Amino acid sequence: MPSHDVLIIGAGLAGQRAALAAAQQGANVAVMSKVHPVRSHSVAAAGGINAAIDPTDDWRSHAYDTVKGSDYLGDQDAIEVMCSEAPEEVMHLEHIGVTFHRNDRGELDLRAFGGASMNRTAYVADITGQAILHVLYEQLLKHSGQVDRFEEWFVTGLVADDDGRCCGAVARDVRTGRIEAFSAKNVILACGGAGQAYYPTTNGLIVTGDGIALAYRLGAPLMDMEMVQYHPTTLVENGLLITEGARGEGAILLNSDGERFMERYAPNKRELASRDVVSRAEQTEILEGRGVGANKDGIYLDITQVPRKRILEALREIVNVGRDFAGVDITTEPIMIRPGQHYIMGGVKTDVDGATPIEGLYAAGEVACVSVHGGNRLGANSLLDTLIFGRRAGEHAAKRAAAMAMPTVGHSHLRDQEAMIAQILARPTGGRRVSAIKAELGATMNKHVAVYRDAEGLNTALETVKRLREEAATAHIDDRGTVFNQDVLGAIELDYMIDCAEATVVGAIERTESRGAQFRTDYPDRNDEEWIKHIELRRGDDGPDISYSDVTFTQWQPEVRTY
Ligand code: FUM
Repeated sequence: MPSHDVLIIGAGLAGQRAALAAAQQGANVAVMSKVHPVRSHSVAAAGGINAAIDPTDDWRSHAYDTVKGSDYLGDQDAIEVMCSEAPEEVMHLEHIGVTFHRNDRGELDLRAFGGASMNRTAYVADITGQAILHVLYEQLLKHSGQVDRFEEWFVTGLVADDDGRCCGAVARDVRTGRIEAFSAKNVILACGGAGQAYYPTTNGLIVTGDGIALAYRLGAPLMDMEMVQYHPTTLVENGLLITEGARGEGAILLNSDGERFMERYAPNKRELASRDVVSRAEQTEILEGRGVGANKDGIYLDITQVPRKRILEALREIVNVGRDFAGVDITTEPIMIRPGQHYIMGGVKTDVDGATPIEGLYAAGEVACVSVHGGNRLGANSLLDTLIFGRRAGEHAAKRAAAMAMPTVGHSHLRDQEAMIAQILARPTGGRRVSAIKAELGATMNKHVAVYRDAEGLNTALETVKRLREEAATAHIDDRGTVFNQDVLGAIELDYMIDCAEATVVGAIERTESRGAQFRTDYPDRNDEEWIKHIELRRGDDGPDISYSDVTFTQWQPEVRTY
Protein backbone atom coordinates (compact mmCIF):
# COMPACT_ATOMS: atom_id res chain seq x y z
CA MET A 1 0.00 0.00 0.00
CA PRO A 2 1.47 3.44 -0.93
CA SER A 3 2.30 5.35 2.28
CA HIS A 4 3.24 8.99 2.65
CA ASP A 5 3.85 11.57 5.34
CA VAL A 6 1.62 13.98 3.47
CA LEU A 7 -0.95 13.04 0.84
CA ILE A 8 -2.22 16.08 -1.06
CA ILE A 9 -5.45 15.77 -3.00
CA GLY A 10 -5.57 18.35 -5.78
CA ALA A 11 -2.66 19.78 -7.74
CA GLY A 12 -3.63 23.37 -8.44
CA LEU A 13 -1.82 26.23 -6.78
CA ALA A 14 -2.74 25.31 -3.20
CA GLY A 15 -1.82 21.65 -3.71
CA GLN A 16 1.47 22.29 -5.48
CA ARG A 17 2.49 24.99 -3.02
CA ALA A 18 1.67 22.62 -0.14
CA ALA A 19 3.69 19.86 -1.77
CA LEU A 20 6.75 22.07 -2.23
CA ALA A 21 6.55 23.34 1.34
CA ALA A 22 6.14 19.84 2.80
CA ALA A 23 8.99 18.48 0.68
CA GLN A 24 11.24 21.33 1.78
CA GLN A 25 10.52 20.31 5.39
CA GLY A 26 11.81 16.83 4.54
CA ALA A 27 8.45 15.06 4.27
CA ASN A 28 7.73 12.29 1.84
CA VAL A 29 4.83 13.61 -0.21
CA ALA A 30 2.22 12.40 -2.69
CA VAL A 31 0.23 14.76 -4.90
CA MET A 32 -2.90 13.24 -6.37
CA SER A 33 -5.11 14.90 -8.94
CA LYS A 34 -8.00 13.80 -11.12
CA VAL A 35 -6.51 15.75 -14.03
CA HIS A 36 -2.98 16.54 -15.09
CA PRO A 37 -1.75 19.22 -12.63
CA VAL A 38 -1.36 21.99 -15.20
CA ARG A 39 -5.01 21.50 -16.15
CA SER A 40 -6.13 22.26 -12.59
CA HIS A 41 -8.68 25.05 -12.36
CA SER A 42 -6.04 27.48 -11.00
CA VAL A 43 -4.98 27.70 -14.64
CA ALA A 44 -8.08 29.83 -15.25
CA ALA A 45 -7.21 32.50 -12.68
CA ALA A 46 -6.75 35.59 -14.74
CA GLY A 47 -6.21 39.06 -13.39
CA GLY A 48 -3.54 38.75 -10.73
CA ILE A 49 -2.46 38.37 -7.12
CA ASN A 50 -2.66 41.01 -4.40
CA ALA A 51 0.27 42.05 -2.23
CA ALA A 52 1.29 45.33 -0.60
CA ILE A 53 4.56 45.54 -2.52
CA ASP A 54 4.51 49.22 -3.44
CA PRO A 55 6.69 51.19 -1.00
CA THR A 56 3.74 53.54 -0.31
CA ASP A 57 1.44 50.60 0.49
CA ASP A 58 1.13 48.71 3.77
CA TRP A 59 -0.17 45.19 4.42
CA ARG A 60 -2.54 46.67 7.01
CA SER A 61 -4.25 48.64 4.27
CA HIS A 62 -4.59 45.42 2.25
CA ALA A 63 -5.98 43.73 5.36
CA TYR A 64 -8.47 46.52 6.00
CA ASP A 65 -9.68 46.39 2.39
CA THR A 66 -10.10 42.62 2.75
CA VAL A 67 -12.02 42.93 6.03
CA LYS A 68 -14.30 45.56 4.50
CA GLY A 69 -14.70 43.46 1.35
CA SER A 70 -15.69 40.49 3.51
CA ASP A 71 -18.50 42.61 4.98
CA TYR A 72 -16.99 41.97 8.42
CA LEU A 73 -17.47 38.21 8.28
CA GLY A 74 -13.79 37.41 7.61
CA ASP A 75 -11.64 36.34 10.57
CA GLN A 76 -9.25 39.21 11.05
CA ASP A 77 -6.40 37.16 12.54
CA ALA A 78 -6.37 35.01 9.38
CA ILE A 79 -6.64 38.07 7.14
CA GLU A 80 -3.63 39.60 8.91
CA VAL A 81 -1.62 36.43 8.30
CA MET A 82 -2.52 36.37 4.61
CA CYS A 83 -1.88 40.05 3.92
CA SER A 84 1.31 40.37 5.98
CA GLU A 85 2.87 37.32 4.29
CA ALA A 86 1.76 38.34 0.79
CA PRO A 87 4.75 40.48 -0.31
CA GLU A 88 7.29 37.78 0.53
CA GLU A 89 5.23 35.12 -1.24
CA VAL A 90 4.94 37.17 -4.43
CA MET A 91 8.67 37.95 -4.40
CA HIS A 92 9.33 34.24 -3.90
CA LEU A 93 7.25 33.49 -7.02
CA GLU A 94 9.19 36.11 -8.92
CA HIS A 95 12.49 34.57 -7.84
CA ILE A 96 11.50 31.06 -8.93
CA GLY A 97 10.58 32.29 -12.39
CA VAL A 98 7.07 33.74 -12.63
CA THR A 99 7.30 36.43 -15.31
CA PHE A 100 5.26 39.17 -13.65
CA HIS A 101 4.62 42.25 -15.74
CA ARG A 102 7.09 45.08 -15.08
CA ASN A 103 6.67 48.84 -15.31
CA ASP A 104 8.89 51.34 -17.15
CA ARG A 105 11.24 51.48 -14.17
CA GLY A 106 11.69 47.71 -14.29
CA GLU A 107 9.74 47.14 -11.05
CA LEU A 108 6.81 44.74 -10.70
CA ASP A 109 3.80 46.53 -12.14
CA LEU A 110 0.66 46.65 -10.00
CA ARG A 111 -2.80 47.07 -11.51
CA ALA A 112 -6.05 48.28 -9.96
CA PHE A 113 -8.59 45.70 -8.80
CA GLY A 114 -11.99 45.86 -7.12
CA GLY A 115 -12.34 46.92 -3.50
CA ALA A 116 -8.67 47.88 -3.18
CA SER A 117 -7.66 51.31 -1.90
CA MET A 118 -4.62 51.39 -4.21
CA ASN A 119 -3.03 49.45 -7.04
CA ARG A 120 -1.65 46.23 -5.51
CA THR A 121 -2.34 43.45 -7.99
CA ALA A 122 0.74 41.85 -9.58
CA TYR A 123 -0.07 40.12 -12.86
CA VAL A 124 1.09 38.21 -15.89
CA ALA A 125 -1.17 39.69 -18.58
CA ASP A 126 -4.53 37.99 -17.86
CA ILE A 127 -3.08 34.49 -17.46
CA THR A 128 -1.61 34.91 -13.98
CA GLY A 129 -2.85 31.58 -12.61
CA GLN A 130 -1.48 29.69 -15.60
CA ALA A 131 1.90 31.42 -15.31
CA ILE A 132 2.25 30.56 -11.61
CA LEU A 133 0.93 27.02 -12.01
CA HIS A 134 3.48 26.14 -14.67
CA VAL A 135 6.38 27.50 -12.63
CA LEU A 136 5.28 25.59 -9.52
CA TYR A 137 5.00 22.41 -11.59
CA GLU A 138 8.58 22.88 -12.78
CA GLN A 139 9.62 23.22 -9.15
CA LEU A 140 7.71 20.08 -8.25
CA LEU A 141 9.55 18.12 -10.94
CA LYS A 142 12.81 19.12 -9.23
CA HIS A 143 11.60 17.27 -6.14
CA SER A 144 10.68 14.08 -7.97
CA GLY A 145 12.67 11.91 -5.54
CA GLN A 146 10.58 13.16 -2.66
CA VAL A 147 7.22 13.92 -4.25
CA ASP A 148 5.26 11.11 -5.90
CA ARG A 149 2.73 12.29 -8.43
CA PHE A 150 -0.51 10.40 -8.99
CA GLU A 151 -1.88 12.20 -12.02
CA GLU A 152 -5.37 11.27 -13.20
CA TRP A 153 -6.32 9.53 -9.97
CA PHE A 154 -9.79 10.24 -8.60
CA VAL A 155 -10.43 10.13 -4.85
CA THR A 156 -13.62 8.32 -3.85
CA GLY A 157 -13.28 8.43 -0.07
CA LEU A 158 -11.19 9.61 2.86
CA VAL A 159 -10.35 7.18 5.64
CA ALA A 160 -10.35 7.74 9.41
CA ASP A 161 -8.92 5.41 12.04
CA ASP A 162 -10.86 4.15 15.07
CA ASP A 163 -10.05 7.37 16.94
CA GLY A 164 -11.46 9.54 14.15
CA ARG A 165 -8.05 10.68 12.82
CA CYS A 166 -7.71 10.98 9.07
CA CYS A 167 -5.20 8.38 7.92
CA GLY A 168 -5.51 8.13 4.15
CA ALA A 169 -7.76 7.88 1.14
CA VAL A 170 -9.06 5.48 -1.47
CA ALA A 171 -8.68 6.46 -5.12
CA ARG A 172 -9.35 5.12 -8.60
CA ASP A 173 -6.80 5.29 -11.40
CA VAL A 174 -8.77 7.04 -14.13
CA ARG A 175 -6.68 5.42 -16.87
CA THR A 176 -7.28 1.82 -15.82
CA GLY A 177 -10.12 1.74 -13.32
CA ARG A 178 -7.83 0.19 -10.69
CA ILE A 179 -8.79 1.20 -7.17
CA GLU A 180 -6.22 1.51 -4.41
CA ALA A 181 -5.89 2.54 -0.77
CA PHE A 182 -3.27 5.13 0.24
CA SER A 183 -2.19 5.51 3.84
CA ALA A 184 -0.94 8.90 5.00
CA LYS A 185 0.00 10.54 8.25
CA ASN A 186 -1.75 13.66 6.99
CA VAL A 187 -4.09 14.44 4.12
CA ILE A 188 -4.32 17.94 2.65
CA LEU A 189 -7.40 18.70 0.58
CA ALA A 190 -6.54 21.21 -2.12
CA CYS A 191 -9.08 20.37 -4.77
CA GLY A 192 -10.95 23.62 -5.26
CA GLY A 193 -14.53 24.77 -4.96
CA ALA A 194 -17.90 23.60 -6.21
CA GLY A 195 -18.77 25.98 -9.05
CA GLN A 196 -20.15 23.21 -11.24
CA ALA A 197 -23.12 22.94 -8.87
CA TYR A 198 -24.22 26.07 -10.75
CA TYR A 199 -24.87 26.68 -14.41
CA PRO A 200 -23.52 28.83 -15.87
CA THR A 201 -20.28 29.24 -13.97
CA THR A 202 -16.80 30.50 -14.74
CA ASN A 203 -15.47 27.27 -13.23
CA GLY A 204 -14.05 24.39 -15.23
CA LEU A 205 -15.89 21.06 -15.54
CA ILE A 206 -13.59 19.55 -12.93
CA VAL A 207 -14.72 21.91 -10.13
CA THR A 208 -17.29 19.60 -8.56
CA GLY A 209 -16.89 20.08 -4.81
CA ASP A 210 -14.98 16.82 -4.29
CA GLY A 211 -12.88 17.96 -1.34
CA ILE A 212 -15.75 19.70 0.40
CA ALA A 213 -17.94 16.62 0.17
CA LEU A 214 -15.14 14.23 1.16
CA ALA A 215 -14.38 16.24 4.30
CA TYR A 216 -18.07 16.66 5.14
CA ARG A 217 -18.63 12.92 4.86
CA LEU A 218 -15.72 12.31 7.21
CA GLY A 219 -17.38 14.60 9.79
CA ALA A 220 -15.60 17.92 9.19
CA PRO A 221 -17.64 21.11 9.54
CA LEU A 222 -18.36 23.27 6.50
CA MET A 223 -18.45 27.00 7.17
CA ASP A 224 -20.29 29.93 5.53
CA MET A 225 -21.36 27.85 2.54
CA GLU A 226 -24.12 30.36 1.75
CA MET A 227 -21.51 32.88 0.59
CA VAL A 228 -21.28 32.33 -3.16
CA GLN A 229 -19.61 34.94 -5.33
CA TYR A 230 -21.12 36.13 -8.58
CA HIS A 231 -18.40 37.77 -10.69
CA PRO A 232 -19.65 40.96 -12.34
CA THR A 233 -18.30 40.23 -15.81
CA THR A 234 -19.05 36.85 -17.34
CA LEU A 235 -20.16 36.26 -20.92
CA VAL A 236 -23.92 36.22 -21.38
CA GLU A 237 -23.58 33.39 -23.91
CA ASN A 238 -21.87 30.83 -21.67
CA GLY A 239 -20.58 32.27 -18.39
CA LEU A 240 -16.92 32.52 -19.42
CA LEU A 241 -14.87 34.92 -17.31
CA ILE A 242 -13.95 38.38 -18.55
CA THR A 243 -11.31 39.40 -16.05
CA GLU A 244 -11.78 42.18 -13.53
CA GLY A 245 -8.42 43.29 -14.88
CA ALA A 246 -10.44 44.88 -17.71
CA ARG A 247 -12.10 47.27 -15.27
CA GLY A 248 -8.74 47.67 -13.53
CA GLU A 249 -7.34 48.91 -16.84
CA GLY A 250 -10.25 51.35 -17.29
CA ALA A 251 -13.25 49.50 -18.76
CA ILE A 252 -16.65 50.91 -17.83
CA LEU A 253 -20.14 49.39 -17.46
CA LEU A 254 -23.10 50.78 -19.41
CA ASN A 255 -26.83 50.08 -19.32
CA SER A 256 -29.32 50.30 -22.20
CA ASP A 257 -29.54 54.09 -21.74
CA GLY A 258 -25.78 54.31 -22.29
CA GLU A 259 -25.50 55.35 -18.65
CA ARG A 260 -22.40 54.60 -16.58
CA PHE A 261 -24.70 53.40 -13.83
CA MET A 262 -22.03 52.48 -11.27
CA GLU A 263 -21.76 56.21 -10.54
CA ARG A 264 -25.13 55.86 -8.79
CA TYR A 265 -24.31 52.71 -6.81
CA ALA A 266 -20.69 53.35 -5.81
CA PRO A 267 -19.79 56.99 -6.48
CA ASN A 268 -16.16 56.67 -5.38
CA LYS A 269 -15.00 53.31 -6.71
CA ARG A 270 -17.62 52.89 -9.47
CA GLU A 271 -16.67 49.76 -11.54
CA LEU A 272 -13.99 48.96 -8.97
CA ALA A 273 -16.30 48.56 -6.00
CA SER A 274 -16.24 45.07 -4.49
CA ARG A 275 -17.73 42.28 -6.58
CA ASP A 276 -20.91 41.79 -4.56
CA VAL A 277 -21.73 45.49 -4.95
CA VAL A 278 -21.06 45.59 -8.70
CA SER A 279 -22.92 42.34 -9.41
CA ARG A 280 -25.94 43.54 -7.45
CA ALA A 281 -25.93 46.85 -9.32
CA GLU A 282 -25.84 45.05 -12.68
CA GLN A 283 -28.60 42.67 -11.66
CA THR A 284 -30.73 45.58 -10.48
CA GLU A 285 -30.28 47.34 -13.82
CA ILE A 286 -31.32 44.15 -15.63
CA LEU A 287 -34.33 43.54 -13.35
CA GLU A 288 -35.49 47.14 -13.77
CA GLY A 289 -35.47 46.82 -17.56
CA ARG A 290 -32.23 48.61 -18.38
CA GLY A 291 -30.36 45.53 -19.58
CA VAL A 292 -28.93 45.27 -23.08
CA GLY A 293 -29.18 42.63 -25.81
CA ALA A 294 -32.13 40.87 -27.39
CA ASN A 295 -33.35 39.55 -24.03
CA LYS A 296 -32.27 42.65 -22.11
CA ASP A 297 -30.35 40.35 -19.75
CA GLY A 298 -26.87 41.79 -20.29
CA ILE A 299 -24.79 44.87 -19.51
CA TYR A 300 -22.14 46.40 -21.76
CA LEU A 301 -18.52 46.29 -20.69
CA ASP A 302 -16.72 48.91 -22.72
CA ILE A 303 -12.93 48.93 -22.83
CA THR A 304 -12.55 50.78 -26.13
CA GLN A 305 -11.15 53.89 -24.45
CA VAL A 306 -8.08 51.93 -23.30
CA PRO A 307 -5.30 52.05 -25.94
CA ARG A 308 -5.32 48.97 -28.16
CA LYS A 309 -1.62 48.36 -27.50
CA ARG A 310 -2.25 48.19 -23.75
CA ILE A 311 -5.23 45.85 -24.19
CA LEU A 312 -3.16 43.51 -26.33
CA GLU A 313 -0.31 43.36 -23.83
CA ALA A 314 -2.25 43.33 -20.56
CA LEU A 315 -5.54 41.59 -21.47
CA ARG A 316 -4.72 39.39 -24.42
CA GLU A 317 -6.69 36.38 -23.22
CA ILE A 318 -10.01 38.22 -23.03
CA VAL A 319 -9.34 39.58 -26.52
CA ASN A 320 -9.31 35.93 -27.62
CA VAL A 321 -12.34 35.00 -25.48
CA GLY A 322 -14.36 37.93 -26.83
CA ARG A 323 -13.51 37.08 -30.42
CA ASP A 324 -13.92 33.29 -30.16
CA PHE A 325 -16.91 33.02 -27.82
CA ALA A 326 -18.91 36.21 -28.43
CA GLY A 327 -17.77 37.31 -31.88
CA VAL A 328 -16.71 40.68 -30.46
CA ASP A 329 -13.46 42.60 -30.95
CA ILE A 330 -13.23 44.18 -27.50
CA THR A 331 -10.65 46.68 -28.69
CA THR A 332 -13.27 48.36 -30.89
CA GLU A 333 -16.72 47.54 -29.45
CA PRO A 334 -18.42 46.83 -26.09
CA ILE A 335 -19.03 43.25 -25.04
CA MET A 336 -22.17 41.95 -23.33
CA ILE A 337 -21.63 40.53 -19.85
CA ARG A 338 -23.64 39.78 -16.72
CA PRO A 339 -23.00 38.48 -13.18
CA GLY A 340 -22.10 34.79 -13.13
CA GLN A 341 -21.17 32.23 -10.47
CA HIS A 342 -17.42 32.37 -9.89
CA TYR A 343 -16.29 31.36 -6.40
CA ILE A 344 -17.42 30.06 -3.04
CA MET A 345 -16.20 31.87 0.03
CA GLY A 346 -17.31 29.00 2.27
CA GLY A 347 -15.75 25.59 2.55
CA VAL A 348 -14.12 23.21 5.01
CA LYS A 349 -13.42 25.03 8.27
CA THR A 350 -9.68 25.38 8.98
CA ASP A 351 -7.30 27.32 11.18
CA VAL A 352 -4.49 29.47 9.77
CA ASP A 353 -2.30 26.39 9.31
CA GLY A 354 -4.92 24.65 7.22
CA ALA A 355 -5.81 22.21 10.00
CA THR A 356 -9.46 21.14 10.15
CA PRO A 357 -11.09 20.00 13.40
CA ILE A 358 -10.36 16.42 12.25
CA GLU A 359 -6.86 15.44 13.28
CA GLY A 360 -4.67 14.66 10.28
CA LEU A 361 -6.98 16.42 7.81
CA TYR A 362 -6.01 19.77 6.31
CA ALA A 363 -7.55 21.94 3.62
CA ALA A 364 -6.22 24.89 1.61
CA GLY A 365 -7.43 27.05 -1.25
CA GLU A 366 -11.05 27.34 -2.38
CA VAL A 367 -11.99 24.06 -0.72
CA ALA A 368 -11.22 25.67 2.65
CA CYS A 369 -12.80 28.40 4.72
CA VAL A 370 -10.03 29.90 6.89
CA SER A 371 -11.93 32.41 6.80
CA VAL A 372 -10.17 35.21 4.92
CA HIS A 373 -12.96 36.12 2.50
CA GLY A 374 -15.99 36.17 4.80
CA GLY A 375 -19.07 37.28 2.89
CA ASN A 376 -17.29 38.46 -0.23
CA ARG A 377 -13.81 37.85 -1.64
CA LEU A 378 -11.80 40.64 -3.20
CA GLY A 379 -10.56 39.91 -6.69
CA ALA A 380 -6.93 38.69 -6.74
CA ASN A 381 -7.07 37.55 -3.12
CA SER A 382 -7.80 34.00 -4.23
CA LEU A 383 -4.41 33.23 -5.75
CA LEU A 384 -2.91 34.69 -2.62
CA ASP A 385 -5.07 32.52 -0.36
CA THR A 386 -4.08 29.35 -2.25
CA LEU A 387 -0.37 30.07 -1.93
CA ILE A 388 -0.19 31.37 1.64
CA PHE A 389 -2.41 28.70 3.16
CA GLY A 390 -1.15 25.98 0.81
CA ARG A 391 2.37 26.66 2.04
CA ARG A 392 1.33 26.88 5.68
CA ALA A 393 -0.67 23.63 5.47
CA GLY A 394 2.27 21.84 3.81
CA GLU A 395 4.70 23.01 6.46
CA HIS A 396 2.39 22.19 9.36
CA ALA A 397 1.49 18.76 8.04
CA ALA A 398 5.15 17.92 7.44
CA LYS A 399 6.07 18.88 10.99
CA ARG A 400 3.22 16.85 12.42
CA ALA A 401 4.30 13.86 10.31
CA ALA A 402 7.83 13.96 11.70
CA ALA A 403 6.54 13.06 15.15
CA MET A 404 4.30 10.11 14.34
CA ALA A 405 4.23 6.55 13.02
CA MET A 406 2.73 5.63 9.63
CA PRO A 407 -0.91 4.54 9.98
CA THR A 408 -2.43 1.76 7.91
CA VAL A 409 -5.72 1.75 6.03
CA GLY A 410 -7.79 -1.36 6.62
CA HIS A 411 -8.85 -3.45 3.61
CA SER A 412 -12.50 -2.91 4.47
CA HIS A 413 -12.21 0.72 3.30
CA LEU A 414 -10.97 -0.43 -0.09
CA ARG A 415 -13.75 -3.01 -0.33
CA ASP A 416 -16.39 -0.38 0.57
CA GLN A 417 -15.26 1.88 -2.25
CA GLU A 418 -15.07 -1.02 -4.71
CA ALA A 419 -18.64 -1.94 -3.79
CA MET A 420 -19.78 1.65 -4.28
CA ILE A 421 -18.32 1.72 -7.80
CA ALA A 422 -19.69 -1.74 -8.61
CA GLN A 423 -23.12 -0.50 -7.62
CA ILE A 424 -22.86 2.44 -10.03
CA LEU A 425 -21.69 0.15 -12.84
CA ALA A 426 -24.58 -2.23 -12.20
CA ARG A 427 -27.32 0.40 -12.31
CA PRO A 428 -30.10 -0.52 -14.69
CA THR A 429 -30.86 1.80 -17.56
CA GLY A 430 -34.01 3.86 -17.21
CA GLY A 431 -33.03 6.32 -14.50
CA ARG A 432 -32.37 9.95 -15.41
CA ARG A 433 -29.03 10.74 -16.95
CA VAL A 434 -26.30 12.21 -14.73
CA SER A 435 -26.03 15.14 -17.17
CA ALA A 436 -29.77 15.89 -16.95
CA ILE A 437 -29.71 15.92 -13.14
CA LYS A 438 -26.61 18.10 -13.15
CA ALA A 439 -28.22 20.53 -15.58
CA GLU A 440 -31.31 20.85 -13.36
CA LEU A 441 -29.14 21.34 -10.28
CA GLY A 442 -27.14 24.10 -11.98
CA ALA A 443 -30.22 25.90 -13.29
CA THR A 444 -31.95 25.68 -9.90
CA MET A 445 -28.99 27.10 -8.01
CA ASN A 446 -28.58 29.89 -10.56
CA LYS A 447 -32.26 30.78 -10.34
CA HIS A 448 -32.81 30.67 -6.59
CA VAL A 449 -29.41 30.90 -4.87
CA ALA A 450 -27.84 33.69 -6.87
CA VAL A 451 -27.32 37.47 -6.50
CA TYR A 452 -30.77 38.00 -4.98
CA ARG A 453 -32.43 35.38 -2.79
CA ASP A 454 -35.59 34.99 -0.71
CA ALA A 455 -37.17 32.33 1.49
CA GLU A 456 -39.58 31.13 -1.17
CA GLY A 457 -36.90 30.60 -3.79
CA LEU A 458 -34.48 29.05 -1.31
CA ASN A 459 -37.07 26.58 -0.07
CA THR A 460 -37.90 25.64 -3.66
CA ALA A 461 -34.17 25.09 -4.23
CA LEU A 462 -33.91 22.88 -1.15
CA GLU A 463 -36.84 20.70 -2.21
CA THR A 464 -35.33 20.37 -5.68
CA VAL A 465 -31.89 19.46 -4.36
CA LYS A 466 -33.41 16.77 -2.12
CA ARG A 467 -35.32 15.29 -5.06
CA LEU A 468 -32.21 15.39 -7.23
CA ARG A 469 -30.29 13.52 -4.52
CA GLU A 470 -32.84 10.69 -4.75
CA GLU A 471 -32.71 10.68 -8.54
CA ALA A 472 -28.90 10.70 -8.50
CA ALA A 473 -28.89 7.43 -6.57
CA THR A 474 -30.26 5.65 -9.63
CA ALA A 475 -28.91 7.90 -12.38
CA HIS A 476 -27.88 5.68 -15.20
CA ILE A 477 -24.56 5.62 -16.96
CA ASP A 478 -23.64 4.34 -20.43
CA ASP A 479 -19.98 3.41 -20.05
CA ARG A 480 -19.44 0.30 -17.93
CA GLY A 481 -15.78 -0.15 -18.84
CA THR A 482 -12.61 0.54 -16.93
CA VAL A 483 -10.55 2.82 -19.20
CA PHE A 484 -11.08 6.56 -18.69
CA ASN A 485 -14.62 5.91 -17.53
CA GLN A 486 -15.82 9.48 -17.07
CA ASP A 487 -19.40 8.26 -16.65
CA VAL A 488 -18.60 6.62 -13.31
CA LEU A 489 -16.67 9.67 -12.16
CA GLY A 490 -19.51 11.91 -13.29
CA ALA A 491 -21.97 9.96 -11.13
CA ILE A 492 -19.72 10.31 -8.06
CA GLU A 493 -19.08 13.99 -8.78
CA LEU A 494 -22.82 14.58 -9.01
CA ASP A 495 -23.21 13.33 -5.43
CA TYR A 496 -20.37 15.62 -4.33
CA MET A 497 -22.08 18.61 -5.96
CA ILE A 498 -25.40 17.76 -4.37
CA ASP A 499 -23.78 17.71 -0.90
CA CYS A 500 -22.30 21.15 -1.60
CA ALA A 501 -25.51 22.57 -3.05
CA GLU A 502 -27.57 21.36 -0.10
CA ALA A 503 -25.12 22.97 2.34
CA THR A 504 -25.23 26.24 0.37
CA VAL A 505 -29.02 26.37 0.36
CA VAL A 506 -29.35 25.42 4.03
CA GLY A 507 -26.83 28.11 4.99
CA ALA A 508 -28.63 30.69 2.86
CA ILE A 509 -31.99 29.87 4.46
CA GLU A 510 -30.44 30.06 7.92
CA ARG A 511 -28.80 33.47 7.47
CA THR A 512 -31.79 35.78 7.72
CA GLU A 513 -29.93 38.96 6.79
CA SER A 514 -28.07 40.50 3.86
CA ARG A 515 -24.27 40.54 4.06
CA GLY A 516 -21.64 40.30 1.34
CA ALA A 517 -22.71 37.98 -1.44
CA GLN A 518 -25.85 36.91 0.39
CA PHE A 519 -28.61 39.40 -0.35
CA ARG A 520 -32.01 38.34 0.99
CA THR A 521 -34.76 40.51 -0.49
CA ASP A 522 -36.91 39.45 2.47
CA TYR A 523 -34.15 40.54 4.92
CA PRO A 524 -32.48 43.40 3.03
CA ASP A 525 -30.40 44.80 5.92
CA ARG A 526 -27.14 43.68 7.43
CA ASN A 527 -27.89 42.65 11.01
CA ASP A 528 -24.70 42.98 13.05
CA GLU A 529 -26.55 42.36 16.31
CA GLU A 530 -27.46 38.81 15.41
CA TRP A 531 -25.39 37.77 12.43
CA ILE A 532 -21.74 38.53 12.97
CA LYS A 533 -21.16 34.81 13.25
CA HIS A 534 -20.14 31.93 11.06
CA ILE A 535 -22.63 29.24 10.14
CA GLU A 536 -21.18 25.76 10.49
CA LEU A 537 -22.77 22.67 8.99
CA ARG A 538 -22.01 19.10 9.95
CA ARG A 539 -23.45 16.13 8.16
CA GLY A 540 -26.47 14.78 9.98
CA ASP A 541 -28.82 11.87 9.34
CA ASP A 542 -31.34 14.09 7.61
CA GLY A 543 -29.22 16.82 6.04
CA PRO A 544 -26.82 19.33 7.58
CA ASP A 545 -26.85 20.03 11.34
CA ILE A 546 -26.40 23.74 12.03
CA SER A 547 -24.21 25.45 14.63
CA TYR A 548 -22.43 28.81 14.92
CA SER A 549 -18.97 30.10 15.72
CA ASP A 550 -17.55 33.53 16.48
CA VAL A 551 -15.93 35.83 13.95
CA THR A 552 -12.45 36.91 15.12
CA PHE A 553 -11.92 40.67 15.36
CA THR A 554 -8.48 42.21 15.88
CA GLN A 555 -8.40 45.89 14.90
CA TRP A 556 -11.33 46.73 12.64
CA GLN A 557 -14.87 47.20 13.95
CA PRO A 558 -17.89 46.92 11.62
CA GLU A 559 -18.72 50.07 9.66
CA VAL A 560 -21.32 50.93 7.07
CA ARG A 561 -19.81 49.65 3.84
CA THR A 562 -19.70 52.15 0.99
CA TYR A 563 -17.49 52.36 -2.10
O1 FUM B 1 -11.45 38.66 -12.75
C1 FUM B 1 -10.49 37.96 -12.48
O2 FUM B 1 -9.41 38.07 -13.04
C2 FUM B 1 -10.65 36.98 -11.40
C3 FUM B 1 -9.79 37.03 -10.40
C4 FUM B 1 -10.15 36.41 -9.11
O3 FUM B 1 -11.21 35.81 -9.00
O4 FUM B 1 -9.39 36.57 -8.16
